[in-house]
Amino acid sequence: MYLSRFLSLHALWVTVSSVIQHYTSAWGHYDVCKTQIYTDEGKFWDYTACQPEAIDMMKYVKVSLDPPDITCGNPPETFCGMGNPYMCNECDAAIDELAHPPELMFDAEGRYPSTYWQSTTWKGYPQPLLVNITLYWNKTIELTDNIVITFESGRPDLMILEKSLDYGRTWQPYQYYATDCLNAFNMEPKTVRDLSQQTVLEIICTEEYSMGYMANSKILHFEIKDRFAFFAGPRLHNMASLYGQLDTTKNLRDFFTVTDLRIRLLRPATGEIYVDPQHLTRYFYAISDIKVIGRCKCNLHATGCREENKKLLCECEHNTTGPDCGKCKKNYQGRPWSAGSYLPIPKGTANICMPSISSIGNCECFGHSNRCSYIDLLSAFICVSCKHNTRGQHCELCRLGYYRNAAAKLDDENVCIECNCSRFGSVHDRCNERGICECKQGATGPKCDKCLRGYNWHNQGCQSNVCDNELQICQNGGTCHNNVRCQCPAAYTGVLCEKRSCEMDPDGCSQSSAQGAISLPCVILLLPLIAPLGLSGFLIF
Ligand SMILES: *[C@@H]1O[C@H](CO)[C@@H](O)[C@H](O)[C@H]1NC(C)=O
Ligand SMILES: *[C@@H]1O[C@H](CO)[C@@H](O)[C@H](O)[C@H]1NC(C)=O
Ligand SMILES: *[C@@H]1O[C@H](CO)[C@@H](O)[C@H](O)[C@H]1NC(C)=O
Ligand SMILES: *[C@@H]1O[C@H](CO)[C@@H](O)[C@H](O)[C@H]1NC(C)=O
Repeated sequence: MYLSRFLSLHALWVTVSSVIQHYTSAWGHYDVCKTQIYTDEGKFWDYTACQPEAIDMMKYVKVSLDPPDITCGNPPETFCGMGNPYMCNECDAAIDELAHPPELMFDAEGRYPSTYWQSTTWKGYPQPLLVNITLYWNKTIELTDNIVITFESGRPDLMILEKSLDYGRTWQPYQYYATDCLNAFNMEPKTVRDLSQQTVLEIICTEEYSMGYMANSKILHFEIKDRFAFFAGPRLHNMASLYGQLDTTKNLRDFFTVTDLRIRLLRPATGEIYVDPQHLTRYFYAISDIKVIGRCKCNLHATGCREENKKLLCECEHNTTGPDCGKCKKNYQGRPWSAGSYLPIPKGTANICMPSISSIGNCECFGHSNRCSYIDLLSAFICVSCKHNTRGQHCELCRLGYYRNAAAKLDDENVCIECNCSRFGSVHDRCNERGICECKQGATGPKCDKCLRGYNWHNQGCQSNVCDNELQICQNGGTCHNNVRCQCPAAYTGVLCEKRSCEMDPDGCSQSSAQGAISLPCVILLLPLIAPLGLSGFLIF
């Protein structure tokens, strides 16, 4: 049975791998958690590592501003053009067309004029104008594309992008942005292109995006794709290599993972070395768009991530649960939870949660073992080291040489009784369900420890009687010794002293026994020899 099981699994594997080769391109993104496989043996589920699609995370974001009243328009105020301090406009929170609330950072862009959030102006100069914009999802997400922030007002002179991995309890810098990194943060200016596979996790300060309103671009990046490219190649054509690295390097995986992002605006675009105190209405922050593309982190246990009550939740498979599929479902804790793996490429390893021991139907180990082991080949749990002479997947059977005690429950220590078959009288040490042993010829009794009539205990077994006082009587005055031999008078011989002794009477012993007595055992002896020959002949042809 084990052999045929093994063979069918082997056949299954062959089928699966050919299916995979066929669909490698489609499956390379880990977009199915399981597939049904058809084999001669029936249908099977093949479980694979899986992850949700990357989506526009700004659809699900929540935002908070610090200080909370930093948005312009309450009370209404005037702000002026960066390039031309005399071209001014009004921000008024009470009038739709003149209001610049935070939502406008996340609305659909591409329309003209673009809509944007705007802060109050830098009236408090020389006090710094500090604003924190915190984006939070209450869900762990994995960034898959650059974070792109579009500033309507010119890019800030100083800014820090921070991230949190623990729902905002602790924060780490992600990247520093400054017109002068050394001066502002005491850091050598760098760009992502200065990094390498070995230094990809370095937190850098870049001057690339802080040229204020003078530069043509309003856009600021946090470069995810350039970092991916160190592993996946310039056009990200070798994602397998990246996935392989992510799989084995937790730090790398965590680097691209966030629950929250914080944009710390430290100094608005000034466009000049010195701030002009006469025209502080020129200095403020305004953001028209923030792009965050990523996927729900589901630990490779889900392809679905749905919004429920304004919150993203992985639709966990593989009998995992939790917002990130980060634990095993109740009754599926048969082995410790583990994230799926991208390896081996392309279908990965699902690492599904296994049923808990206590939930395998009504069977456990019936108190005869406290250890279970999962056997992949059989897709089943097996009790290990069954005690009390039990055996079987759930210690529900008796060991060979023992039989089931009908009076005891399955969890009774005395559930299995020793057969106690006679070593000499029984064919083997096994007995039937009532404790009856299988006896050799001549032996009898439940344990085969007695001899049948006509047999006697001799030579540690039941030997057929050679002589007795009823049926096989010693002749010609012979006497029966222990039922095994006749002691014959001098003139007689033979088993029952039925022949005349040759020495005494040369004529009388001429041909009386020979043929008949020898030819019979001859046939009996040959039969067992012929039978195996015939059988093996059959097997060969
Ligand atoms: C912004 O966040 C930082 C920590 O990330 C904190 O130190 C600071 O007080 C916050 N508020 C403002 C207005 O900067
Ligand atoms: C965050 O999500 C958890 C469940 O994952 C929920 O219990 C909690 O209330 C959520 N917090 C917020 C602020 O939405
Ligand atoms: C998870 O458990 C359900 C029963 O609750 C079962 O039908 C399903 O096949 C299991 N899935 C996996 C991946 O083991
Ligand atoms: C089996 O036989 C041994 C000795 O031969 C005896 O001690 C033992 O009690 C027997 N067990 C049973 C179940 O009869």
